[in-house]
Amino acid sequence: MSAESKAMSLPAPEDLVGVEAALKALPTDVPKPMLFTRDFSLTDRVAVVTGAYGGFGLETALAFAEAGARAVYCIGRSPEPPSKWKKVQDYAARMDGKAGEGRLEYVVADVTDKAKLEQLAREIGDKEGRLDICITGHGGSPSPSECLDYPPEVFQKTLDTNTMGALYVAQAFGKQMARFERGGSIIFIASMAGSVTLKDIHVMPYNVSKAAIVQMARSMACELGPRKIRVNSLSPGYMYTGMTAAFIDHSPDVWASQNPLGRTGLSHEIRGVVTWLASDASSFCTGSEYVVLSSR
Ligand SMILES: NC(=O)c1ccc[n+]([C@@H]2O[C@H](COP(=O)([O-])OP(=O)(O)OC[C@H]3O[C@@H](n4cnc5c(N)ncnc54)[C@H](O)[C@@H]3O)[C@@H](O)[C@H]2O)c1
Repeated sequence: MSAESKAMSLPAPEDLVGVEAALKALPTDVPKPMLFTRDFSLTDRVAVVTGAYGGFGLETALAFAEAGARAVYCIGRSPEPPSKWKKVQDYAARMDGKAGEGRLEYVVADVTDKAKLEQLAREIGDKEGRLDICITGHGGSPSPSECLDYPPEVFQKTLDTNTMGALYVAQAFGKQMARFERGGSIIFIASMAGSVTLKDIHVMPYNVSKAAIVQMARSMACELGPRKIRVNSLSPGYMYTGMTAAFIDHSPDVWASQNPLGRTGLSHEIRGVVTWLASDASSFCTGSEYVVLSSR
């Protein structure tokens, strides 16, 4: 990097944070805390979330709205969002003191429909003039079956939704991030199942689909780093959501006993880590897998 371009990349004095801001401050300045108003803030950012009917997707959408996002586009398959989503949309709209507009928008697409996702991403980009955050919260686990006889069509369907769906979403919205040249953060919800043995749960395609996502994040991070687009994966352990509720309600101690904290996680416990990964607070983090409440 030349001396000139190096100098050009230095932050303006008003952008200084942390110790550098403290050292440059005049004795008469009254400094303001910046950790939550700047580093963790999503003010004016535009986000897209898949799987936002409930579970991690909906928690994420609300967290982003609270953190100041201008708009959070929630992608779902049904023509109409469920009443739970509408209630959260209304709650976000009425929230007092949130950092920004915090608008939740519902848009329809199946994550396996690449063409539809590309069209949707272009429309959102045209409307908002920016696209900053993309998080894939969709996914599902197939019925358990022995690996030696696993039905190939079920295996393929799981890969199509979990892995290819995540890829299509990241490609469509990643293109918009590149288009507006502001950088961005892509977060794939993977699973601890992508890298540990789930001894008594015979869902091989789910585990494979999540392992692929972890590596997809690393590969995309390497290619998209020069465009300032960060790509990470987030791997939850056992947490109570629509996907796991039936099992946890039936056998509350089985997974809880495998966790160092002695319990399964709650969906709202994803709020902090997704906001951190979406925001500038994680500006030097890319190509990594972050494990949340793992039992490994
Ligand atoms: N709950 C856990 O313990 C846990 C642990 C690790 C990873 N995960 C992962 O977290 C993610 C979110 O799951 P959750 O636990 O919130 O469960 P969830 O069932 O509440 O969410 C899954 C969402 O994906 C959506 N979806 C599925 N197929 C789709 C498609 N083809 N197009 C569009 N949307 C589709 C569903 O409608 C649903 O809203 C999933 O990828 C899951 O594998 C969950």
